[in-house]
Amino acid sequence: MTNLKADFKEPFRMLDQKVQQMMQLIGDKSPHVAGADGKYDDMRLDWWTSGFWPGILWIMHEMTGNEAYKTAAWRWDELLEQKMMQPNNFHHDVGFQFMPTAVIKHKLTGDEDALRRGLFAANFLAGRYNIAGRFLRAWNQEKLGWSIVDSSMNLSILFWAAEQTGDPRFTHIAKAHADTVVERFIREDGSVNHIVSFDPQTGEHIGSLGGQGAGPDSGWSRGAAWALYGMASAYRITNEIKYLRAAQRVAHYFIANLPEDSVPHWDFRAAADLSEEPRDTSAGACAASGMLDLADLLPEVEGAIYRRTAERILLSLHRNYATWNMPEHEAILLHATGHKPADQNVDVSLIYGDYFFVEAIAKLNGWKNRIF
Ligand code: GLY
Repeated sequence: MTNLKADFKEPFRMLDQKVQQMMQLIGDKSPHVAGADGKYDDMRLDWWTSGFWPGILWIMHEMTGNEAYKTAAWRWDELLEQKMMQPNNFHHDVGFQFMPTAVIKHKLTGDEDALRRGLFAANFLAGRYNIAGRFLRAWNQEKLGWSIVDSSMNLSILFWAAEQTGDPRFTHIAKAHADTVVERFIREDGSVNHIVSFDPQTGEHIGSLGGQGAGPDSGWSRGAAWALYGMASAYRITNEIKYLRAAQRVAHYFIANLPEDSVPHWDFRAAADLSEEPRDTSAGACAASGMLDLADLLPEVEGAIYRRTAERILLSLHRNYATWNMPEHEAILLHATGHKPADQNVDVSLIYGDYFFVEAIAKLNGWKNRIF
């Protein structure tokens, strides 16, 4: 078998160069989307993506020891805390925001303020738990009984809080929600529902909605990536085999539906013929990073399929979708899709695609820490 691992030294070297350029270009912005002009926007801090750019900086700091990355990453958890104390729209995604800022900062530096901020976010997330339905409530303005597959990725902050405080309530909530993901979000064939609706009073299951996928029964690829990675992390932390099997089921569906160049379309069931449908490089990067963890959690022969697929996806992103020859472009990956049904952010660069690409390449270059 070809030793693909060796091939990831070069992408990491290029990332180091690129992220240093990005620091100059992005400055104090909180990046979310970059369109054809290659300029990242400056999104409000309570938007769910505000942790990804600082997360890139912390990983690059840990990998290289370069203090410039740490300096640029340092203030983000404080900024998020300040926003928490003002009128805001924080919701189920605080894990996405505080894990790659406060939590990783505390892990790497022991900073006590960062610890407080991470625990604050975990308490906020725990407060969104619906006991009757055993789910974490999604969003704020939408229905009280809605829960979404994206929250699978936010459970790590609850597990972390349980470890830090010794308080098992955080684990109870994280596991109860993870069980609901296994029972209600992941279908038998490994595809996933985006939104699942429950009666918020009785907890009774009502049904599923399409959300960011093409329809209620479709195969939204980023949703699958969230479930695959989230369940792999839940298994890593709890050792409960049902989460491992759930992650594998989603991974098999994902792998079976990858096109020739291994970079997923935005929804595997958007049409019978997907050739005209946009790709979503963010789904590819996130799934690849999750598959690398999945491979590590299994005996080598069993995990090989996930490692090989992850490496294939990442090599394709590196060779065919990256901005290496566009030094003024503020993002790393092109051709991501945010919300196709709403016609929002189609064929753009998304900061979470960049984040999971950096994270996965770091894993292939020996990064042992974990953020999610
Ligand atoms: N969490 C929203 C998304 O995946 O676009």
